Amino acid sequence: MEQLATQPDAALALYVHLPWCIRRCPYCDFNAHALKGALPETAYLNALKTDLQQATEHRSFPPLVSIFFGGGTPSLFSPGAIQQILDWIDASMPITPNCEITLEANPGTLETEKLSGFCQAGINRLSLGVQSFHQPSLQALGRIHTAETAYSACSTALSLDFNSVNIDLMFGLPQQTEATALKDLDRAIQTGCQHISWYELTIEPNTLFAHKPPQRPDADTRAHWTALGQKHLAAAGFNQYEVSAFCQPGFMCQHNSWIWSFGDYLGIGAGAHSKLTDAKEHIRLVRYRHPTTYIDRPNKVEVQTCIKPHELPFEFLLNRLRIMQPIAWETAQTFAGITPSLQPIQQALKKGFMTTTSTHFQLTDKGRWFLDDVISLFLE
Ligand SMILES: C[S@@+](CC[C@H](N)C(=O)[O-])C[C@H]1O[C@@H](n2cnc3c(N)ncnc32)[C@H](O)[C@@H]1O
Ligand code: SF4
Repeated sequence: MEQLATQPDAALALYVHLPWCIRRCPYCDFNAHALKGALPETAYLNALKTDLQQATEHRSFPPLVSIFFGGGTPSLFSPGAIQQILDWIDASMPITPNCEITLEANPGTLETEKLSGFCQAGINRLSLGVQSFHQPSLQALGRIHTAETAYSACSTALSLDFNSVNIDLMFGLPQQTEATALKDLDRAIQTGCQHISWYELTIEPNTLFAHKPPQRPDADTRAHWTALGQKHLAAAGFNQYEVSAFCQPGFMCQHNSWIWSFGDYLGIGAGAHSKLTDAKEHIRLVRYRHPTTYIDRPNKVEVQTCIKPHELPFEFLLNRLRIMQPIAWETAQTFAGITPSLQPIQQALKKGFMTTTSTHFQLTDKGRWFLDDVISLFLE
């Protein structure tokens, strides 16, 4: 199976949302809820089982190329619970033999036994939310783990039988200098991991950081570090294949690549989003967002909408332009009716945001830098 979608419904990616965390980090706007008391594992598993049944009983899906347990902190769940969910999926949907199965984990919730249990349950890709190996930055981010715990979680994960391990890092952090930002990359590289996600810290509305902004490097400094970090990772053999994703050759994240290339995905769990192709229409579904509501409701889908034909170019490019690989005109035409003569394409070419050949188009460095401006051309 190719990494990028050539037909939205040739395959499917499955996302499973597990919404609890030990506590909420001050920068995070994901659908994540601080645990008050014990994890309601059984009640949530039952809700997921119902959700999966309802999603699959009247519809057959193409084979799964990836399954992604995201959060929240999925590693709060037991390996037995993850195994149970995977068994239900296996019983209700076709799965490709090389299906990538990722679990997001917080280093503060892992012991060797648990990690090994996830591996035995069928997880073949582990994504570790390290954020930084610099203790003062970790503290400013309100993380529940230390730099040492993070490092030892990486070493343990890499000693087990996962096909690949990803390390999430952030930069532009409070207490961070150019040297500590690059040192974070070095420490991640030294672990021997196959994939690094390197995110610039964004201040999201309705987070603690939005109400009480931390001191962090200014925009010019962050832009300078972006370029330095990209060079650093390239020198260590990590290819940048997406805005924030870097990997050793052959280790692109199948799940995200499929979704960014506008492939269909089903999302189950609290607040999970889906995009499915139905008789040539693109349908979006959203599950109930609050975990208690999601558990209590007999039906799990709260909203269903259809992407209108005139919205398709924007929706397609919003995802697809994140990926570095040039876009075939043929794919853009089939997926979203985008042709070289479309006015926003002409504008993007004129402004130097894009280049084109007879078969493909792609962003220039300038286009990548002004990605939001490029995308917004397709909103008008
Ligand atoms: C849903 S979290 C999953 C990992 C796990 N919950 C944890 O934090 O350890 C996915 C990743 O998004 C990144 N992230 C979250 N909020 C961010 C923000 N405001 N700016 C940049 N990156 C962010 C972090 O690197 C985080 O590891
Ligand atoms: S642990 Fe991860 S998902 Fe949970 S609040 Fe922190 S960044 Fe968000």
